[in-house]
Amino acid sequence: MTKSASLTFGDKTVDLPVRSPTAGPDVLDIRKLYGELDVFTYDPGFTSTASCDSAITFIDGDKGELLHRGYPIEQLAEQSCFLEVCYLLLYGDLPSKAQMEEFRTTVTRHTMVHEQMHNFFRGFRRDAHPMATMVGVVGAMSAFYHDSTDITDPHQREVASFRLIAKLPTIAAMAYKYAIGQPFVYPRNDLDYASNFLHMCFSVPAEPYEVNPILAKAMDRIMLLHADHEQNASTSTVRLAGSSGANPFACIAAGIACLWGPAHGGANQACLEMLREIGSVDRIPEFIERAKDKNDPFRLMGFGHRVYKNFDPRAKVMKESADEVLELMGIHNNPTLQVAKELERIALEDEYFISKKLYPNVDFYSGIILDAMGFPTAMFTPIFALSRTVGWISQWKEMISDPSLKIGRPRQLYTGPARRDYTDLETR
Ligand code: SDX
Repeated sequence: MTKSASLTFGDKTVDLPVRSPTAGPDVLDIRKLYGELDVFTYDPGFTSTASCDSAITFIDGDKGELLHRGYPIEQLAEQSCFLEVCYLLLYGDLPSKAQMEEFRTTVTRHTMVHEQMHNFFRGFRRDAHPMATMVGVVGAMSAFYHDSTDITDPHQREVASFRLIAKLPTIAAMAYKYAIGQPFVYPRNDLDYASNFLHMCFSVPAEPYEVNPILAKAMDRIMLLHADHEQNASTSTVRLAGSSGANPFACIAAGIACLWGPAHGGANQACLEMLREIGSVDRIPEFIERAKDKNDPFRLMGFGHRVYKNFDPRAKVMKESADEVLELMGIHNNPTLQVAKELERIALEDEYFISKKLYPNVDFYSGIILDAMGFPTAMFTPIFALSRTVGWISQWKEMISDPSLKIGRPRQLYTGPARRDYTDLETR
């Protein structure tokens, strides 16, 4: 039986179809609302708005649940790897052994970038933020890979997806090497995805470099935990850009630009900088009070989430990983980790954070691990971006292959001046 909701406005009533999901709240289909009632809905920030159908990721913010194609993030983090989760997000099911090997080989064979792109980096200042470099270089991929920009061709969509997933780590590592004045390091086909990234970042031509398997596993887990997250701001940016028919490289560059904001993916850098500013456990109360002060713009970075009103399951896995990595690296009593753990404990006992349901999110602990690995804070968000590329491209492919795709074009509540006539300069 089809469910519906009845809405009466003035002397008109409209029946709105109600659609039920696999999981989560029902949705009211309001597509005919403007045509029948001549009114818009109003939802800045989209707190109550479903922008699309999607079968890729589901989040239950009250339960602290995150599923990728139905599989809980805790099980994937424990038993899978980033590249297998890439396959799952892209194709909808876990791969067979043969499918996984073919996928791994294809990604591996796309990790190099066009040699001409090396010169492209030379136009940037050495002290450019690597996110600025990545936005520029990823957008410029559409100037180098013309044979995978026709979005109407499924084969070209597939090739572009492989190129983006494979080349983003190479580009991020190049941005890092360029910033520190070291030579670019080519990818190696004998290394797994995470080890290859660490090798491209930390090896130098002057001596052999062995990737630490503990760090490679931690890197892979960080990438996996950041892979996709429903219709967050950057994914919605990629979808909106893609709805106009823009090529996939331009869409991913738009997603990287959006992710950079400190309220989104930029929070991991801002969080570690905040933990360092706090410096010691005895200064935590001062910052907690600032976070609660309506007149102070300061917020606890790495805390709070639009959807999670209970714990962020990724933060729990990341916290365990931080303990494990620092212990295995012999970094005992890392002061930043101690401040983070005490800050979390105090905040979660504070009425303000409890009442507003503010918990650590994915960005709270990730920076501590990346810092321990030797990455500068400016590389934290580029690592988030290269990890989220598979989520962005999976959501983009899902949207582009939907025959009912329409260009995204929201309306507004206009609050500007009513119509008025122009007056000559002399008379003003
Ligand atoms: C990511 O959407 C995703 O899925 C994102 C992400 C992904 O994987 O793609 O999960 C990745 O972006 C994680 C979030 C990283 N950002 C931060 O850690 C920055 C700090 N957090 C906030 O700025 C904030 O919590 C947001 C942006 C994450 C969520 O903001 P909302 O949902 O718009 O909530 P809000 O700003 O309306 O806050 C609700 C209340 C407000 O108080 P009141 O106006 O009701 O009195 O909570 C307060 C806020 O002032 N609040 C905080 C706070 N976050 C919210 N107060 C202090 N410290 C904070 N961190």
